[in-house]
Amino acid sequence: MSPVSGDHIVRIFDTTLRDGEQSPGASMNLEEKIQIAEMLESMGVDIIEAGFPIASNGDFEAVHEISKIVTDSIVCGLARASAKDIDRAAEALKPAARPRIHTFISTSPVHMKHKLQLEPEQVLDAVVFSVSHARKYCDDVEWSPEDATRTDHDFLCRTVEAAIKAGASTVNIPDTVGYTVPDEFGNLIRMLKERVPNIHKAVISTHCHNDLGLAVANSIAGVVAGARQIECTINGLGERAGNAAMEELVMVFRTRGDALPFDTRIDSTKITKASKLVATITGFPVQYNKAIVGKNAFAHEAGIHQDGMLKHNQTYEIMTPASVGLRESSLVMGKHSGRHAFREKLKELGYELGDNAIQDVFKRFKDVADKKKEIFDEDIIALVDDQVFRAYDRIRVASLRVVAGTEGPQEADLTLEVDGQMQRHKATGDGPVDAVFNAIKAICGHHAHLKLFQVNAVTQGTDAQAEVSVRLEEDGRSVVGLGADTDTLVASARAYVNALNKLAVKRQKTAPGGSIEAAP
Ligand code: KIV
Ligand code: ZN
Repeated sequence: MSPVSGDHIVRIFDTTLRDGEQSPGASMNLEEKIQIAEMLESMGVDIIEAGFPIASNGDFEAVHEISKIVTDSIVCGLARASAKDIDRAAEALKPAARPRIHTFISTSPVHMKHKLQLEPEQVLDAVVFSVSHARKYCDDVEWSPEDATRTDHDFLCRTVEAAIKAGASTVNIPDTVGYTVPDEFGNLIRMLKERVPNIHKAVISTHCHNDLGLAVANSIAGVVAGARQIECTINGLGERAGNAAMEELVMVFRTRGDALPFDTRIDSTKITKASKLVATITGFPVQYNKAIVGKNAFAHEAGIHQDGMLKHNQTYEIMTPASVGLRESSLVMGKHSGRHAFREKLKELGYELGDNAIQDVFKRFKDVADKKKEIFDEDIIALVDDQVFRAYDRIRVASLRVVAGTEGPQEADLTLEVDGQMQRHKATGDGPVDAVFNAIKAICGHHAHLKLFQVNAVTQGTDAQAEVSVRLEEDGRSVVGLGADTDTLVASARAYVNALNKLAVKRQKTAPGGSIEAAP
């Protein structure tokens, strides 16, 4: 168990639900955001940035609902330096046990001149106004000078001092465009510590983007120089090349405490689960060789490495797979396994489902067990995730028969249950997947564009379950649908229908009056 207090503890501020969600195509619905927030709280995240309430009604609702549920972590809402933004953030955070308002304004010459069209003195006034206004609502106010790493040092010092004087207890220093390098960023934090007279009254935070692949290294340099909060995301999700990856930061401090005497409160054994959850929900796959959470991060392929590992695991392993919650893939159950054993297995995998949900997943498990000789943990995880993500769907795949092969035309005979009514359609297509999607389109009548169709095998073998992700885009709205089944075409239909369900929810939320302004 890691120590939980002391000056060597670095607070983890997770912004997967705000900056992470700003990645094009990574939008999430309310239920998905709640699932991620619960995961973040359970792994010990200090601060969860749940959204940017003024950006859309969906963001407002997410911050509001997460504020009701999360009690251990601080829940944070983002706001620009205007009363309207801050009022909306405060309103969204009302139910929070531990609310934080995070307000920001750009301070670099290029942003002030071209984006804000404001003089430096006007920006300084806005800093004082925004922090003071936020303090009327809550004691915990964070302030960020956007594009800090390209800001004139004298001006940065003046704004930081003014923000702290106005009541900010955290000052976050963003490398908004991922431009800085470790020594330079460390020196910037040192410069603030030396020159800002009231800096000791605030926690210094880092917020590094990964455009040059340096986000984690820059964040660590910031901590060495005196920062005690890091803003980061699961899997490094975020604008453009993303933000600093939380899993990498946590494991750097855990593994190299000898060189870097810092730690976080994060339960590292939950990292793998959190990474999978975020990848599944967003449809953004994790690259195979990604540090800590990539599929190959703990795989030893070369004979000489395998030989060394068999003799002693420390020959090629600097941290254990168990320390990040990675378990040996185990052969778990078969078609004779009973409901009780299944329930126990779900508990062991960390799922707490209600009786009805267990009943539904158990039925699907039996169907899969009839088709597949061996069922692994991964199969059960795919089944549960599939069921959970589908729980709110208004449209469901009832049955599907497909004609495929070299003799075209390929044809799909599909029945969907739409709001409880069965609707059937036969369609042809350029291949079986196209036929299935055409049949869905004929029944549901939408004009969304297919942007991504991705198939992954859950385990090895030709009888493996297929996990399909489908990204649809319609009028600037983007959603990812997921589906799993031993039949790739059924999984594809489920994924497409799941995406349409999410799109319907999104259409309602962003109907005229819903979407307010673009995110920063
Ligand atoms: O990158 C950035 O500057 C931000 C701020 C809103 C903190 O995300
Ligand atoms: Zn950012």
